[in-house]
Amino acid sequence: MNIHIFKNEEDFIQTAASQVTSLLNANPYAKLGLATGSTPVGLYKRLIEMHRQGLVSFAQATTYNLDEYVGLPENHAESYRTFMNEKLFNHIDINIDHTHIPNGNAADPEEECRAYDKMLEENGPVDLQLLGIGHNGHIAFNEPGDSLTSGTHITTLQAKTREANARFFPSIDDVPTHAITMGVGSIMKARQIMLLIRGEDKAEIAKRALTGPISTDCPASLLQCHPNVIVLLDQGAGRLFK
Ligand code: F6R
Repeated sequence: MNIHIFKNEEDFIQTAASQVTSLLNANPYAKLGLATGSTPVGLYKRLIEMHRQGLVSFAQATTYNLDEYVGLPENHAESYRTFMNEKLFNHIDINIDHTHIPNGNAADPEEECRAYDKMLEENGPVDLQLLGIGHNGHIAFNEPGDSLTSGTHITTLQAKTREANARFFPSIDDVPTHAITMGVGSIMKARQIMLLIRGEDKAEIAKRALTGPISTDCPASLLQCHPNVIVLLDQGAGRLFK
């Protein structure tokens, strides 16, 4: 793992953005794996700025998102489709038909999972997979447990995850209980993975995931087995590495 700790926010964001833009400038047809949540928001803002400055085009790119809540209408303010449209897709030159997010309202959710995996299998591998990490060590919505699932699946969100995400909803009762998520096996197939970790509150899980034992109790620890992972931490998240 290639671990970088940044003293200032600007360098953190620009390094993350440069990973994406260098890839797209070398291969305009690149396949990007994207994440939602607070962590990548600064990166998406920077990508929009760089696009406006003519430094990068997404016109030929394809994107695959990690996850989506089950049961939120697609146009709900907190659906991950809405998040991606508002935070990135509406402001760049991507073809919206080339942006893929699991459908959390599919009539047959199991079939939706199979179809998402089939699409990833046929179109993949993803060139660069962006990831954040949950306080409990989850990646995408692969929650800690005795076992992990390889492919896309429906998962029950843990209390800690629902509490963390309650900040976006009127109350915790409004946070969905389930999500569709890419599995760890699908994530690990990416050619390169870029894990972003921000904030003091992520310092302990960052240390555990990156240097602790590889265990399903901390799904992000499995990334230690991937041959091409870059991890960017801000100073707060990296404080236990000194
Ligand atoms: C989002 C996702 C999640 C988040 C994680 C961290 O698509 O898959 O694993 O990356 O929950 O969320 P934030 O960035 O809000 O702390």
